[in-house]
Parts: sequence; structure tokens; C-alpha cells
Amino acid sequence: MASLAVVVAAVVCAAVVVAVAAAGKFDDVVEPSWANDHVVYEGDLLKLRLDSSSGGGFASKNKFLYGKATADLKLVAGDSAGVVTAFYLSSGGDKHNEFDFEFLGNVTGEPYLVQTNLYIDGVGNREQRIDLWFDPTADFHTYAVLWNPSQVVFLVDDTPIRVYENKNATAVKGHHRHASGTTTNNATAASSVPPFPSPQPMSVYSSIWNADDWATQGGRVKTDWTHAPFVATFRDVRVEGCAWAANATDSDAGEVARCTGSSWGKEGRYWWKEKDMEELTVHQSHQLVWARAHHLVYDYCVDTDRFPVQPPECAGR
Ligand SMILES: *[C@@H]1O[C@H](CO)[C@@H](O)[C@H](O)[C@H]1NC(C)=O
Ligand SMILES: *[C@@H]1O[C@H](CO)[C@@H](O)[C@H](O)[C@H]1NC(C)=O
Ligand SMILES: *[C@@H]1O[C@H](CO)[C@@H](O)[C@H](O)[C@H]1NC(C)=O
Ligand SMILES: *[C@@H]1O[C@H](CO)[C@@H](O)[C@H](O)[C@H]1NC(C)=O
Repeated sequence: MASLAVVVAAVVCAAVVVAVAAAGKFDDVVEPSWANDHVVYEGDLLKLRLDSSSGGGFASKNKFLYGKATADLKLVAGDSAGVVTAFYLSSGGDKHNEFDFEFLGNVTGEPYLVQTNLYIDGVGNREQRIDLWFDPTADFHTYAVLWNPSQVVFLVDDTPIRVYENKNATAVKGHHRHASGTTTNNATAASSVPPFPSPQPMSVYSSIWNADDWATQGGRVKTDWTHAPFVATFRDVRVEGCAWAANATDSDAGEVARCTGSSWGKEGRYWWKEKDMEELTVHQSHQLVWARAHHLVYDYCVDTDRFPVQPPECAGR
């Protein structure tokens, strides 16, 4: 009986993932989740609008455990001071995990900043900020989060701008590379091992809202409502991942096993968990070094005012 339920759930999921992977249409992937009248479909585009009455947002129809979420996005043109557009994954709940892209608007002609953050077990405060090597309001660019048991990678046009590694991944990788019995990790000695997001399924979200109390030049520049509506435009939103059974609880052990255990599933290959996804390629490592050297403008890891004791994940930088 139990195994029959698992098989049925897996088949249901297979249909969902195929639809998500094959179709670029927003309807297959996301639905309005906040202020539906500020979520506007125009031809092939999806627009989020902010005016003085409200912002707006959408959410994925499925939750996912591991995978890659991608948005082709053009940010608010002209004066966007005070306006934040976010593209993020979140699991919800008290001990939630969350991976954020937050695009911080600016006055006309001044650069957007891209803030990334990770919440792990409900705790955030891991902000980094970069500026960009292009004008994100002039055209569509691709922003993506790759998430697997070994790392969380933030990518801009396929260039990694941030990696959060599972420093405890010896065990994870050991299970991949050897059939059994070679795990060398000693969990009780892991108190200084940085936390890594536990396997909770996440939804994918985007929203636009007024954040003029903090977003632009430290909150000094306020939103100029005479320039509303502020519009962020999506050309595509894609999620390739292990879709969670719609009726499963967030801690369903069978679903965790299905999405975590094997690199092959009913859906086909879990490419985001393959061995070559466990760490950056050499080329990507070079790209990351380049991005950080030329575009990093803030890193919580070196903010000793906020963190007199360096967070454990920052060690060795
Ligand atoms: C989930 O849905 C499947 C397919 O409809 C069903 O067979 C299964 O019993 C359901 N599981 C739970 C926990 O409700
Ligand atoms: C490290 O991995 C072990 C084995 O998978 C696990 O039991 C432990 O909770 C992990 N520790 C941290 C800090 O993630
Ligand atoms: C794991 O580490 C703890 C603390 O350092 C130690 O007391 C324990 O003996 C170790 N266990 C194994 C199996 O190595
Ligand atoms: C906005 O532009 C100012 C001036 O160039 C710059 O200092 C700031 O970092 C930019 N971004 C934000 C979010 O304030």
C-alpha cells in the first residue's frame, strides 16, 4: 500500500516536471500570489507593477527539493529609487531556508545593486552586494539559483557571483562516489562546520515592493511616486528541479529520499545533482574570482562591525 502510494506520487510528479521543463509559458510554472491586479501578462511577458497602492508578486505552483530556478528579467528603467524587486526561493515555516536575489533600485543613471542573502534554519544576515557589468534595465538578463546537497550558487548570465558550499559535504559526496561505508565525516565533531540548508522543499517567488526605508543609498533616497508605476518585466521563469508531491507534507521522508537519494528519478536525470554540479568548474571558479574582484561592493563576511566574530562559513576567505 505504502509503496503503491509512492509510485503514484512519483508518476504525478513526472507529469508536472515534464510540463515545467518543456514549456516556457508562465502559467505552467507560476501564478500570481500577491495583488493579482499588479501582476500583468502582456503578450509573452509578465510584468510586476508597483504603485502607491501596492506592489505585486508571483509564486511557483510547485515546491522543489534541489534544482535550478531561473528568471529572464529586465529591471525597472529610469528612476527606481526605493524600489526592490526580488527573485527568491523559500521553504516557509519557522526554520525556513531562503535564497534571495534582491535588486535594489536607484535614481536615474546610478547603478542598481544586486543583494544576495541566504536564510538557513530561519537565520539570515548573510548579505552580499554586487554591482553589475551591464545595465540591467536596458535588456533582459538571466538570474539563477542552483541548489543541490553540495552547494548553493547564484548566477548572473551564467557567471557565478556567489557560492555557498556545504563544508560538511564530504559525507554527501562520499555517498555519491562510493557505494557505502566510506563516509569519514564525524558529525559530533561538526560544531564549527557551517550550517547548510536542510532538505526542505522550496517555492520560487518574485515580488516588487517599496523599500525606501533602507534600499537606496541606505534609505536616504525615497521613492518618487510621480514616477510610478515601477515595472519589472519577466521574459521567462524556469524551474528545473525535483518537484515535491503536491499532497506531501514538507518533511515527507519519502519525498526527501526521492529527491535526495539517487541521481536518477522517474522524471529523468537529476542533472543538478550530478557529480559535476557538486562544485564549480575551474572556469566558473575563475569567473567567480573575477566577479568578486571587480563587482563586490559589500560582504557580510568582512563586516566586523556587524560580526566581531566571523561567521563560520566565512573562514578561509
Ligand atoms: C497523495 O496523492 C496520491 C495520488 O492522488 C495518493 O495516492 C496518495 O495517497 C496521497 N497521499 C497522501 C498522504 O494523501
Ligand atoms: C554533517 O553531516 C552529518 C552526516 O550527514 C549530519 O548528521 C550533520 O548534521 C551535518 N552537520 C551539519 C552542521 O550540517
Ligand atoms: C567524533 O568526534 C568527537 C569529538 O571530537 C569524539 O569525541 C568522538 O570520539 C569522535 N567519534 C568518532 C567515531 O571518531
Ligand atoms: C546608488 O547610487 C549611488 C551613487 O552612485 C551608489 O553609491 C549606491 O551604491 C547605489 N545603489 C544603492 C542601492 O544605493
